[in-house]
Amino acid sequence: MTDHRRWQYIGQAEDLNTGAIEFALTAGTAEAGTVAQRGFVIRHDGELRAYVNQCPHLGIELNWMPGRFMDSDGCFIQCSTHGALFLPDSGECIAGPCQGDALTPLEVVEQPDGIHIRPPE
Ligand code: FES
Repeated sequence: MTDHRRWQYIGQAEDLNTGAIEFALTAGTAEAGTVAQRGFVIRHDGELRAYVNQCPHLGIELNWMPGRFMDSDGCFIQCSTHGALFLPDSGECIAGPCQGDALTPLEVVEQPDGIHIRPPE
């Protein structure tokens, strides 16, 4: 079966120098009359990782500050509301009120013209 989801351009590699690229998911996630979900991309250990910006604890966005998703050591993605910690490579929550849950991953690729993600179905 063919996957008809479109890749969505979200920025250039140098845009990650500020910590993360944030973007609105433009397809496949918003019902009519609702607010589109947002996502973010980080580079961790050289690999791009993209997730829906939604904490599994309360369903709210993870960050208060634009582009700030990592803890102070830069080891884990951290929810700014109650401090849950997530593994950057898998999105699994390893500490906090949603331990055992996980962020929703997004497919991400780096092409010569920039970084692209593919929204979930
Ligand atoms: S809302 Fe993220 S840990 Fe509570």
